[in-house]
Amino acid sequence: MIPVNEPLLSEEDIASVTEALRSGWISGSGPHVESFENRWAAYCGRKHGVAVANGSVALQVAVSLLDLQPGDEVIMPTFTIISCAWPVVLANAIPVLVDSDPRTWTMDVTQVRARITSRTRAIMPVHIYGNPVDMQPLLDVAEEYGLAVIEDAAEAHGADYRDRRIGSFGTASCFSFYANKLVTTGEGGMLLVDDEELADRARRLRNLGFQPGRRFLHGELGYNFRLTNLQAALGVSQVERIDSIVARKRAMGHAYTARLSEMPGLELQVEQPGAHGVYWMYGLVVRETSAGIDAAELAGRLAASGIETRPFFLGMHEQPALRERGLFAGESYPVAERLARQGLYLPSSIGLEEQEIERICGKVREALR
Ligand SMILES: Cc1ncc(COP(=O)(O)O)c(C=O)c1O
Repeated sequence: MIPVNEPLLSEEDIASVTEALRSGWISGSGPHVESFENRWAAYCGRKHGVAVANGSVALQVAVSLLDLQPGDEVIMPTFTIISCAWPVVLANAIPVLVDSDPRTWTMDVTQVRARITSRTRAIMPVHIYGNPVDMQPLLDVAEEYGLAVIEDAAEAHGADYRDRRIGSFGTASCFSFYANKLVTTGEGGMLLVDDEELADRARRLRNLGFQPGRRFLHGELGYNFRLTNLQAALGVSQVERIDSIVARKRAMGHAYTARLSEMPGLELQVEQPGAHGVYWMYGLVVRETSAGIDAAELAGRLAASGIETRPFFLGMHEQPALRERGLFAGESYPVAERLARQGLYLPSSIGLEEQEIERICGKVREALR
């Protein structure tokens, strides 16, 4: 079976984690945490990094920084992971959805303005599968209405838009370092901000709301979302080779595109002009006219040939866990609904070989016949 994703760990990674173990700094403080924060922030062109336990809680801390009041609204794509909607719901605020652009699969930025109300507080763009959102129109709208931007860059390490690195666009920008990400710490995440007060507050929220000055003094309620020094040691080592990781993922993406773009029954993800994605996962959409098969059928045929795939996200408006809270009643987002049914992603490990890509594409061609 060619797995959908496998991490590629180097001898340097192993040495770095071993050194951290030997040092005795195994919990949420230690030199690697700060070093990882500084390096990742610098790579993304930001002033401050706050490392946390995973990408979902990075978003949760980012949303906490907004101090949302019940009934406040945050605009986001429906086609994303629940980690975007959940912290908003937890704050008794409302995720307000927009559909996807059918070519880029990221949020359709032209729909945002119509969704703004007097309760809107923030916009949350998500760079789906490592493909940058068309940020400029969003930044313009955010400025016009005084809205915060929480950039979900969980899947887009090293991507860029108009010569700026992804992760540099949000009031707060959030990354995941889960095992399948371009930079991994096993589990892990980070918030990036430029404002020092926001960084300090995010650090307190990550650490149970402990206040400086006196131990066990809490000025506000926080969480234990600390990243361990062991995990950060892996992160520091991975960041060292980020350029080669990004180059490898792009080469993999281009190798897939060269073969799949000629197949009639498929649609592939398109980049905005001025944007360069990183092909976190290589996705495709099966046209309804393709021998009458949908993504689930194609996934079954590929699995029978030893190729693992994953279905696309299912939109937030189709999630029972959110609908049962009275959200999104009667709402429909046709592009996201189609992506969810006709889309899947192919094996996308950093270590994937060219001949494996050749074999996978051959099997896709066969399955579509
Ligand atoms: C777009 C997006 N946001 C947030 C997350 C959450 O990250 P984590 O799995 O580290 O909690 C993910 C996870 O893959 C993601 O794809």
